Amino acid sequence: MQGVELTLEEHEVIVSHTDPTGKILYANSVFCKYAGYEMEELVGKAHNIIRHPDMPKAVFKLLWARVLNGESIYAYVKNRKKNGDYYWVKGFTTPVMKNGRVSHILSYRKRITDFQRDTIEAIYKAVVDYERSHSVDESLQFIVDYCAARGMTYDEMVDRLSLDKQVTNEESLNIDTRGYLFDHIIFREHITHKVDTGEKDIEVTKPCCCRFGKFVEASSGKDFTKHPEWRNVDRYHKDVHGKLQEYVDVAKTSGDRGKLSSINREIKDDTEKMFHSLEELIQEDTKKIFGSLNKVINEYA
Ligand SMILES: Cc1cc2nc3c(=O)[nH]c(=O)nc-3n(C[C@H](O)[C@H](O)[C@H](O)COP(=O)(O)O)c2cc1C
Repeated sequence: MQGVELTLEEHEVIVSHTDPTGKILYANSVFCKYAGYEMEELVGKAHNIIRHPDMPKAVFKLLWARVLNGESIYAYVKNRKKNGDYYWVKGFTTPVMKNGRVSHILSYRKRITDFQRDTIEAIYKAVVDYERSHSVDESLQFIVDYCAARGMTYDEMVDRLSLDKQVTNEESLNIDTRGYLFDHIIFREHITHKVDTGEKDIEVTKPCCCRFGKFVEASSGKDFTKHPEWRNVDRYHKDVHGKLQEYVDVAKTSGDRGKLSSINREIKDDTEKMFHSLEELIQEDTKKIFGSLNKVINEYA
């Protein structure tokens, strides 16, 4: 049984403290909720009580090497709930030192995006596969080499998948995704207002009548428009404008409220799909870096 994927709420932080051997000293209520254990059941237990079999051994080897050396580490982790459900997090683990020795270790975990999960899941699958026929030390070297082949250290790889880095990429492509999304939300409000004030000849079918449409036109021939998602972006955008026109026409003729609200829902759905495709495209750059896993696996096979 695979179990169900659980997703942390945006504000939730899973916290645990351990002794230097990894025995749990403290777990907060969010930890208990996702682990499926009561606090009393957890204290004194080894932290691997929530270990998921899909996690590579090498990641924990690195984590322990770092913290016992007095250093902190970020890691993507898939954890298992008592009933078999699971959840992905990005964890920050850091030792507390006393008289030059590790006195205890703290860990804080937040939810990750689907993009981070999909990318790291593919990497971890390859690593777990590699571990079936190699030692943990070889596996750790595999991770280091995998990152090096992409011009990164392990820490840079973890960082490269963060949302901030995707936003940086968005800026480098000069795409104001959030601005355009907002434009489309208020665009329909403008149209309703025009219809209400009896304005005639409202023409919204041409995608270039909005700021995003102008951007689409100006992007013609640019590198990122060669990505398959770009076609979806363009198509959904045209659909949105077609439906906006339908909205105007229905509002001006029958004014049928049921019909108007169903068109409205379709506009909302298409707008969401359009921006989802746009986000996929923005993350493409990162995917390209991490995508060629097979090549590295073959090198080691
Ligand atoms: C503070 C701290 C937090 C940890 N958090 C997790 C965690 O969330 N999930 C996990 O599987 N292991 C975590 N570990 C690592 C575990 O101690 C253990 O190494 C890992 O589960 C692998 O277990 P295994 O060696 O028995 O396979 C943590 C360790 C420390 C010191």
